[in-house]
Amino acid sequence: MELIHVIMDLVVPPIILVGLLIIIPPYLIYKFVSFILRSFSIEDLTGKVVLITGASSGIGEYLAYAYAKRGARLVLVARREKRLREVAEKARGFGSPDVLVSSADVSKVEDCKRFVEEAVHYFGRLDHLVNNAGITSAYAFEDVTDITLPTHLMNVNFWGSIYPTHFAIPHLRKSKGKIVVIASLASWLYAPNMIFYGASKAAMYNFFETLRVELGSSVAISIVSPGFIESEMTQGKHLSENGTMELDPQKRDAQIGMFPVRGVMECANTIVHGVCRGDRNITDPSWFRILFFCKVFVSDVVEWFFSVLFVSTPGMAENDALGKKILDVTGLKKFIYPASIASDIKAE
Ligand SMILES: NC(=O)c1ccc[n+]([C@@H]2O[C@H](COP(=O)([O-])OP(=O)(O)OC[C@H]3O[C@@H](n4cnc5c(N)ncnc54)[C@H](OP(=O)(O)O)[C@@H]3O)[C@@H](O)[C@H]2O)c1
Repeated sequence: MELIHVIMDLVVPPIILVGLLIIIPPYLIYKFVSFILRSFSIEDLTGKVVLITGASSGIGEYLAYAYAKRGARLVLVARREKRLREVAEKARGFGSPDVLVSSADVSKVEDCKRFVEEAVHYFGRLDHLVNNAGITSAYAFEDVTDITLPTHLMNVNFWGSIYPTHFAIPHLRKSKGKIVVIASLASWLYAPNMIFYGASKAAMYNFFETLRVELGSSVAISIVSPGFIESEMTQGKHLSENGTMELDPQKRDAQIGMFPVRGVMECANTIVHGVCRGDRNITDPSWFRILFFCKVFVSDVVEWFFSVLFVSTPGMAENDALGKKILDVTGLKKFIYPASIASDIKAE
């Protein structure tokens, strides 16, 4: 029995390597030509129905405006109904012909069933489902005293994307629609002190990559990996180790450090353009893609880099990690964080 594995160990890697060397050049040409062709056949969203979860602030709110500018009809979902109504009003101003608002909690399966049914009942169809609602955590694994508390984050980020997808797929099949997944760089990069957040996004990433294989061409899936983007999350809103939502810009500085934060409108426009072009994966800002190669080829160096910048040494205050210290000493924040999220800058 074991002999087969000894033979496979010897034979499979060289065969695959030679195969890759032969396949990669024509494959890259094919990808380039297909990119050019897709750039000339951008999806027309006029009158199409787009459901966005987590549309009351941040990326979801601006995705609503980006879709509205392209003439899409919208279904906006989040828990804060008043905020949703304000977003809906602005979206109409940006050109959306009709907007439906639905107050719901994506971690509750019955809410997800209800808002998908409301959308289809009201508009008669569904073309894009944007799984965007999410929360982040801001603590290290060993800070957790009650290990059951982080399940809430998994319920919102992971199950809060799976439930709407489950109810939407039959309608998306009919319209040959799309699923857009707002994952995160944290799904494949290291996110110290956001360990449960990274795990929830990694689960999402793998789930939707596998679903893409299961669905084939019937429903397209675009997985988005944003870097650091202007939003309530990057204002410092997070789930604490006690299970409560808190706002702490100092913790935010310790988590983001010297990484520049991208404007949310630019990010939303890039996402919607990529989705309409049929991109399978979208990374914004795009320079973060190079970190993927770094992780594959020199993972221990990347690990060391993240540990030095973001992990505080024993005896050091949690918010005194090297990345934050450099940020504070150099005054870099004024230049690399948008004014809207740097609340402590505004107060100065
Ligand atoms: N900002 C970044 O740097 C960044 C980077 C990578 C990925 N992302 C991802 O982008 C997505 C949007 O986040 P954001 O940065 O725009 O943060 P945000 O401004 O805090 O927006 C989060 C949205 O999710 C909604 N939400 C949270 N819990 C919910 C629940 N239980 N049910 C329904 N809606 C819920 C919030 O609305 P209510 O509170 O009204 O319910 C809000 O609309 C998240 O999935 C996040 O992980 C963000």
